[in-house]
Amino acid sequence: MNYLYLLATLLFVFGIKRLTNVKSCASGNRLSELGMLVAIATTMLIHHESINWPTIAAGVIVGGSIGLFLAKRTPTTEMPELVAALNGFGGISSALVAAAAVMKTVVDRPIAADGPLSSVATVAAILIGMVTLTGSFVAYGKLSGKSLNHPLAGAVRHVLHLVLGLGAAGLGVWMATATGESTPLLALLLLALVAAALGVFLVMPIGGADMPVVVSLLNSYSGIAAAFAGLVIDNPLLIVVGSMVGASGLILTQIMCKAMNRSLGNVLLGGMGGEDEVAEDARDYNNIKQSGPEEIAMLLDGASSVIVVPGYGLAVAQAQHVVRELGDLLIDRGVEVRYAIHPVAGRMPGHMNVLLAESDVPYDQLWEMERINGDFKNTDVVIIVGANDVVNPAAREPSGPISGMPILDVDHARTVVVIKRSLSPGYAGIKNPLFELDNTLMVFADAKEALEGMVREVKDL
Ligand code: TAP
Repeated sequence: MNYLYLLATLLFVFGIKRLTNVKSCASGNRLSELGMLVAIATTMLIHHESINWPTIAAGVIVGGSIGLFLAKRTPTTEMPELVAALNGFGGISSALVAAAAVMKTVVDRPIAADGPLSSVATVAAILIGMVTLTGSFVAYGKLSGKSLNHPLAGAVRHVLHLVLGLGAAGLGVWMATATGESTPLLALLLLALVAAALGVFLVMPIGGADMPVVVSLLNSYSGIAAAFAGLVIDNPLLIVVGSMVGASGLILTQIMCKAMNRSLGNVLLGGMGGEDEVAEDARDYNNIKQSGPEEIAMLLDGASSVIVVPGYGLAVAQAQHVVRELGDLLIDRGVEVRYAIHPVAGRMPGHMNVLLAESDVPYDQLWEMERINGDFKNTDVVIIVGANDVVNPAAREPSGPISGMPILDVDHARTVVVIKRSLSPGYAGIKNPLFELDNTLMVFADAKEALEGMVREVKDL
């Protein structure tokens, strides 16, 4: 049977490998789904004598239907929330597996009798699993726009977290060494409650806009909890796959932090992304040149190369379909049109890719930052749709909140058109000197409305 587990692992590995490319990612998903089917079928074959089939059937039907319903109903803009919720369910599953092992073994023999590895794995699966559950649902709430603030501030907050962490460790030792009908179960319950509180309080102080990084980190935690649960029940597949999820979540977290030029510590301690953090001079601009759809259409009429830079505002305005319509119109007129994708544009990894894929923008028109940055200097018009920080030349300054963050070099293009509703700053809360440059034109409007106007004007040319 271990050969079948090996097959499932290989399917997961090749599935993840295929996710690294936009063209192959759909087949990567299919491979991973097949891997999961092999894994579940193998586990059922191994345990067929002790399986309660009606319970399994009910679980598959009810769980599968809820999953299908959620996946079909959730719009792409709400994917981060869905991923956060699914992480939470992953965490509680691992905690429940370890809890079941505690409930089965401890009447006259403590868990510690099976050795330190088993004790540590059991406690860790429950602790990390519960932190993942509640932390993920706080992240879910914050992503849905709920204001969930930590009741404490400053050093007291850190003391509370330390007390909860030490308390959980102490309860873990108690649970691992206790015997009897009720004592280990009481320790288990208290450990689960303290870990749940820790998950809530750890995520609460982090700014709402930093939630994608937190969700990625919690995804990694859910994998680590699963790997520990695998050690508890001696299941090699769970150990391998849990470790893969744990490692890939950590790598993604690190990629996001690097693309923002911030440390993980800075994100976790709430360094940026707080709702009210806006620099004093963030709206002080001179030399702003305002424009509108008619003038931009005339500009586009004389252009032979255009690069569209989508940002968070594109998602807010749901302008992905109309931006593609404008792009197609220009291509029909013989203009070269490409889309420049910054790795942290928007609010979740791959946010812009997902939106543009939804409107069927061909993959070969999507260009990653490193590949397109050298081409801005030879580009006639850049149209920035609701992006701000990812095109802010202030990142080239030696100091400042986004200093050192790699940006799209849009200011090197002949003309830059910025579509946004006002002079409000982006996520980093700072002024963007791009708006004052001589070659920048500002179109103050909702992205969808502005692009619809441009489409009309280009059609009339
Ligand atoms: P931002 O810097 O957040 O700027 C978005 C701009 O969109 C705002 O300036 C806003 O200006 C405009 N906007 C909002 N609604 C609009 C609408 N309906 N129509 C037109 N414009 C609209 O976005 P960005 O350039 O994509 O940068 C992303 C930021 O998020 C970076 O700082 C990044 O570090 C951070 N972040 C990203 C991630 C991931 S994984 N993507 C994770 C965490 C943090 P107005 O209000 O004036 O319209």
